[in-house]
Amino acid sequence: MSQEQLLKRASQVMPASGFGNFDPSIIIREGKGSRVWDEDGNEFIDYLTGSGPMILGHGHPEVLDAVSEQMAKGMTFFAHNARGIELAEEICRALPCAEQVRYTCTGSEADMYAMRLARAYTQRDTILKFEGGYHGMSAEAQMSLAPERQVNFPVAVADSAGIPESVRNDMLVAPYNDIDFARSIMEEMSGKIAAVIVEPFQRVIPPEPGFLEALREACDEHGSVLIFDEVVTGFRFSYGGAQSVYGVTPDVCTLGKIIGGGFPLAAIAGKAELMAHFDKEKVGSERFLMQLGTLSGNPLAAVAGLKTLEILRRPGQYEKLYETGKTLMKGIHECLRDTEPAAQVVGHPTLFDVVFREETIRNYRDVRSGDRDKTARFNATLRANRILKVPGKFYISLALTDTDIEQTLAAVQLAAQQLTH
Ligand SMILES: Cc1ncc(COP(=O)(O)O)c(C=O)c1O
Repeated sequence: MSQEQLLKRASQVMPASGFGNFDPSIIIREGKGSRVWDEDGNEFIDYLTGSGPMILGHGHPEVLDAVSEQMAKGMTFFAHNARGIELAEEICRALPCAEQVRYTCTGSEADMYAMRLARAYTQRDTILKFEGGYHGMSAEAQMSLAPERQVNFPVAVADSAGIPESVRNDMLVAPYNDIDFARSIMEEMSGKIAAVIVEPFQRVIPPEPGFLEALREACDEHGSVLIFDEVVTGFRFSYGGAQSVYGVTPDVCTLGKIIGGGFPLAAIAGKAELMAHFDKEKVGSERFLMQLGTLSGNPLAAVAGLKTLEILRRPGQYEKLYETGKTLMKGIHECLRDTEPAAQVVGHPTLFDVVFREETIRNYRDVRSGDRDKTARFNATLRANRILKVPGKFYISLALTDTDIEQTLAAVQLAAQQLTH
């Protein structure tokens, strides 16, 4: 059946004709290694990578074997299982902040519980987040995620219908990378802020030197919990996540994507003292935070995650990932040298994008002030030339080959020609 026919069927049974995740007009039939094919048989080099989990590429044979073996033994039990325990042990070995782990199915839930955990621990209500920071779909996380309207900080703007006004009252919003602003708001609200939640590397924007350190210090000073959302960066930036790369240890982090190896699994990982609030016996019913889920910690996802992490631990994997990303970043930068305004390749070797703006990019408003029409044309040309990516990111995978890099840069070159003529 053609994509057009499938899309027509989708439009009958799905709002906006799709899942809500991504452009519904492309319907993926299958993936193998660094490539995916749509239902019309068109082949793409994949920088979408399932929005990040498929860091090894699609259908890695060792992950497939591990999953098949587990599948024959049972897909989900709801009950405690050994594979989930092993994965929790591995997460605790890998991440500086992780003394204990609790599973959810999605990063959204993990972030929602991390904020609730901070509230239970501190017995405070207010959460400070950064404009443009993405922490999933909870009411709190939808505050100032991608606001069209720019209001004065620290006022939060709901980016979704259906969120009660009361949620807004407990949220504060700051510009990313603005140490002075974050410090001053924490000073002013001293004793009231339960948590600061931050993507240590926000979307594609790196933290400026000292920013994460200053948040750590301010949280210590004011008794607030520091939450790093490492749903994207965990096991991508390094085996120890962004917290290891930047040398700042949060109290709690959230993980997702890679730890489930392509299956639904995410986690909250943090200091035992905080995680105790998931244990009624330790904290008593008043301070207890109830948390469970039908598929949480399911063995299929745990096995896929464990095998993915085992492969990532092998010598040379991160070096290869970084090398591939650096080659692409440099090549894309060179191809786009002559655009007006100049294109910047912003981000990290494992995750980056192109922003058409001359000035340094420090926060959400800087990215938004880039030339969005050029960005849209750039992305459209890449898609037409069989490069698949989300509008805001290139996700690098270990499956990318030299041929993929060459073909990608040829497509970028074509996009550059179209943008400069
Ligand atoms: C930084 C970050 N946090 C949280 C989430 C939400 O994760 P999920 O889509 O698994 O709910 C995402 C998803 O892309 C993310 O990028």
